[in-house]
Amino acid sequence: MVIPLFFVFTFLVASSQASVQDFCVADLKLPYGPAGYSCKKPSSVTENDFVFSGLGVPGNTSNIISAAVTPAFDAQFPGLNGLGLSLARLDLATGGVIPMHTHPGASEALIVIQGIICAGFIASDNTVYFKTLNKGDAMVFPQGLLHFQINSGKGSALAFVSFSSPNPGLQILDFALFKNDFPTELVSKTTFLDPAVVKKLKGVLGGTN
Ligand SMILES: *[C@@H]1O[C@H](CO)[C@@H](O)[C@H](O)[C@H]1NC(C)=O
Repeated sequence: MVIPLFFVFTFLVASSQASVQDFCVADLKLPYGPAGYSCKKPSSVTENDFVFSGLGVPGNTSNIISAAVTPAFDAQFPGLNGLGLSLARLDLATGGVIPMHTHPGASEALIVIQGIICAGFIASDNTVYFKTLNKGDAMVFPQGLLHFQINSGKGSALAFVSFSSPNPGLQILDFALFKNDFPTELVSKTTFLDPAVVKKLKGVLGGTN
């Protein structure tokens, strides 16, 4: 009799420890940790924490890339915290480009809503995959790989993307290389680009030295 009771007791303890929370709405006032934001008190969570209304508004594409990314990540959309996903809107004016970039923390899925977008990525063995996408076409970009989107049509283009993390991270390759304070000779030496080209790109993108 003692042994079966021991198992029942162990089972009850184990199942009580297996309880999970339904959600962890971000408390944006608390520091960000490796697992995301800390949770808001459930009593202060409202339906508005699970709704983000900003994706209906076109981003401002009057900039050097003629494009805009409107993120709905955990910092903008607290209800996403802990759920392993997020969203963004991509607006590309004629000739617009989302320059070569990576998301260290997430894979991405893109769907074209309007216009024509040429998109692609570079695998870690440097094989390239790119394709012209029309309205309704979707493409995925594996986590951490360099990728881009170009408006290759005549009018503006619109796409929505989703990420496999509430905080995908973003590093734009040209900003990393040229919007920095490294000495020009160092960037030139490590990229094999002429110092004059490095200086020019630092000037355009806001780097120094
Ligand atoms: C878009 O951005 C440009 C450059 O920053 C600015 O001059 C312009 O007022 C903005 N347009 C809107 C509609 O916000």
